[in-house]
Amino acid sequence: MIDIHSHILPGIDDGAPDLNTSLAMAELAVADGIQVVIATPHVDGSGYLTMAMINTAVDQLNSVLQKRGLGLIVFPGAELQFHAAKQLVDQYCLASGSFFLLEFPHSHLPADALDLIYTFIQKGLTPIIAHPERNREISMEPGKLSSLVGAGAKVQITASSLTGELGTSAQICARFLLKNNLVHFMATDSHSPNFRKPILSKAVKKAKTYLSREGALALVRDNPLAILPEGYSLR
Ligand SMILES: [Fe+2]
Repeated sequence: MIDIHSHILPGIDDGAPDLNTSLAMAELAVADGIQVVIATPHVDGSGYLTMAMINTAVDQLNSVLQKRGLGLIVFPGAELQFHAAKQLVDQYCLASGSFFLLEFPHSHLPADALDLIYTFIQKGLTPIIAHPERNREISMEPGKLSSLVGAGAKVQITASSLTGELGTSAQICARFLLKNNLVHFMATDSHSPNFRKPILSKAVKKAKTYLSREGALALVRDNPLAILPEGYSLR
C-alpha cells in the first residue's frame, strides 16, 4: 500500500516532533503493509518551508530507514493550503510529479475553488483535495464536491474518518463520497504513532463493504502509483 498523506518528517510541522517518533510511525506503517509514504508537511505560504528543505529531510529519513532495514520508502510532497496554492503550486507537487495535495479551510469551501481548480488543470497540474469529509460545509452538503471532481480534481479521504475514529459527521460524509464514486485516494494524514495512526488496512477493510475489493485497493495502491515516478512498482 501507498500512503499519500503523512506528517512523518521529524521536527518540521505539527507531525512527528523528532526522529524517534518518525521511526515509530514507520514501524507501524510497515507492519500494516504500507511500503511507500509521501511526506506532506503543511505549507502555508509564509515561505518558512521550502521544497529543498523537504527534500533534504526526506533524504535523511530514507537513509536512516535503510540503515535500520525498515522496508519503507519516503517520497517528498507537501500539504498546500488553498490560499497559497495559486502562487506556489509548481514548487510543491507530490514526488516531483504533476499531482499536489490541496487543503481547504476546515470551515468552508472557498468561493473561488472551482475557478482555481480549472486554472490548475489547464496548467497540467492535478489537485488532490485533502480530507473534504472534515470540511464543515462539504460534510453538510457532500454533493458540492461533484463540480470540483467534474472539473478534474481528485479526492483523498482520511482512513480514520471512514473507521469512525474522527467522529460521526466525518464518517457519514466519507461513506457518502465513497458510495458516490467521489473518492480516488485514502490516506492516513498521520501525525504520530497515536493520533491518526499510520494505519490503512482497517479502513481498506471498511471500504470493501461499500466498493468491490479491487475498488477499495485502488484507493491505496493503483491510484497512488500514478503519482509516483513513471515505472515505479511496489515490491
Ligand atoms: Fe495533513
